[in-house]
Amino acid sequence: MAKKLGRGVALVGAGMSKFGAFPGKSTRDLFVEAFLDLRASLDKGLDPKDIEAIYIGNYSSDLFEGQGHTAPFMADWVGLAPIPATRIECACASSGVALRQGILAVASGLYDVVLVDGIEKMTDLPTSQVTDVLATASDVLYEVPAGFTFPGLYAAMATAYMSRYGATPESFMKVGLKNHDNGALNDKAQFGSTIRRVMESKIAKAKAKGLPLPAWEDELAFLHDDRANPVIAWPLRLFDCSPISDGAAALLLVSEEITRDFTDDPLYIIGSGQASDVALHDRADVTTLRAARLASQQAYAMAGATPEDIKIAEVHDCFTIAEVIATEDLGFFSPGKGYEAAEEGLTRRHGTKPINTSGGLKSKGHPVGASGAGQVVEVWKQMRSQAGERQVSKDVDLALTHNVGGTGQTCAVHIFERR
Ligand code: COA
Repeated sequence: MAKKLGRGVALVGAGMSKFGAFPGKSTRDLFVEAFLDLRASLDKGLDPKDIEAIYIGNYSSDLFEGQGHTAPFMADWVGLAPIPATRIECACASSGVALRQGILAVASGLYDVVLVDGIEKMTDLPTSQVTDVLATASDVLYEVPAGFTFPGLYAAMATAYMSRYGATPESFMKVGLKNHDNGALNDKAQFGSTIRRVMESKIAKAKAKGLPLPAWEDELAFLHDDRANPVIAWPLRLFDCSPISDGAAALLLVSEEITRDFTDDPLYIIGSGQASDVALHDRADVTTLRAARLASQQAYAMAGATPEDIKIAEVHDCFTIAEVIATEDLGFFSPGKGYEAAEEGLTRRHGTKPINTSGGLKSKGHPVGASGAGQVVEVWKQMRSQAGERQVSKDVDLALTHNVGGTGQTCAVHIFERR
């Protein structure tokens, strides 16, 4: 029998800092930016004194910034001490899981008003060190000594997927093209530029310097160029990878009974699922994430919904292959058909199943602990018709978020309803 929440939980506000590289800013600055943006999103205002607890998703402020025990410091920075402040660490799924903890806390009846955040500040370290920090979210006993990095682990999934289903590196490039198109319409995105504009700016720079002009016919030719789009871990190239990012996002959850004190247009969280899995090297099949399949099955069962009912989804595209696999694990497309759907444009903003209208992790940015909460900000905007130029054309009554930790050792899936 499907598990149910003890009582209804609503999302009544959502905000985020800009995602990007901000050398002068600390996690605390970004957290405050996200908190202020959240407050601005509340239709009927918020008295911070009403917040009873905070759950903060953060992967590794310890290794990125030398600051452990982050949650109480964040609470203090926005004047919320002495309420309980708890940090949740589940790698890149940290704030998706923090959201789930916030939901459980409200649904249990313990609290009526809970703040959920995601934070990460990655860009103070050089890329090689960031890669080492991120690698601690894989299996340090077997995978790291074998030479794997995160791009390498996802490249292994990509090659297995290509071999089984006939996808090509170009199939993945089309995911990146779409997500950059969407991110170009998002003023909070790290890369607010289409790949065409990146290509044209490189041509303009070459012209200004009197260098030979690159002969790219179109964006795909640009993406196939080893100099313009170098291989990071074959078949994944630069434009297949999410970037290294700083950012924060904040969500306000309340019990269903008091929703109307905050807004007349809330979103109800009607499905929540979470699962775990063994390390990638221990799996019989690396073309699918079992944790994502299980978490989504739990969320669909709780919501009484099917994949067909979901109008839009923000999925965890830390690498382009991850988006393809996500759309299959969530049941939007059959196994092996996700890449064809991407190639056919079904996942574009005005396609039949819009995926990552925010630009996704690929273009919006991937401050790892903040990404899950950031996905919810997009759902909040799209469902309330506040997404501006990137607003989808259909009425979004049901939306889903899919947040993955590591190579799928953790997955949290949530379903939101606008009534
Ligand atoms: N996509 C597109 N362009 C990117 C990019 C990305 N992911 N990352 C950097 N760039 C661009 C920069 O804007 C810069 O452009 P410019 O020369 O026009 O100014 C150029 O590439 C070089 O940037 P730099 O920061 O020096 O790149 P890098 O080589 O140090 O890092 C990656 C590139 C792909 C290695 C790095 O982004 C990375 O490790 N990404 C994966 C992060 C990850 O594993 N996250 C966890 C997932 S589970």
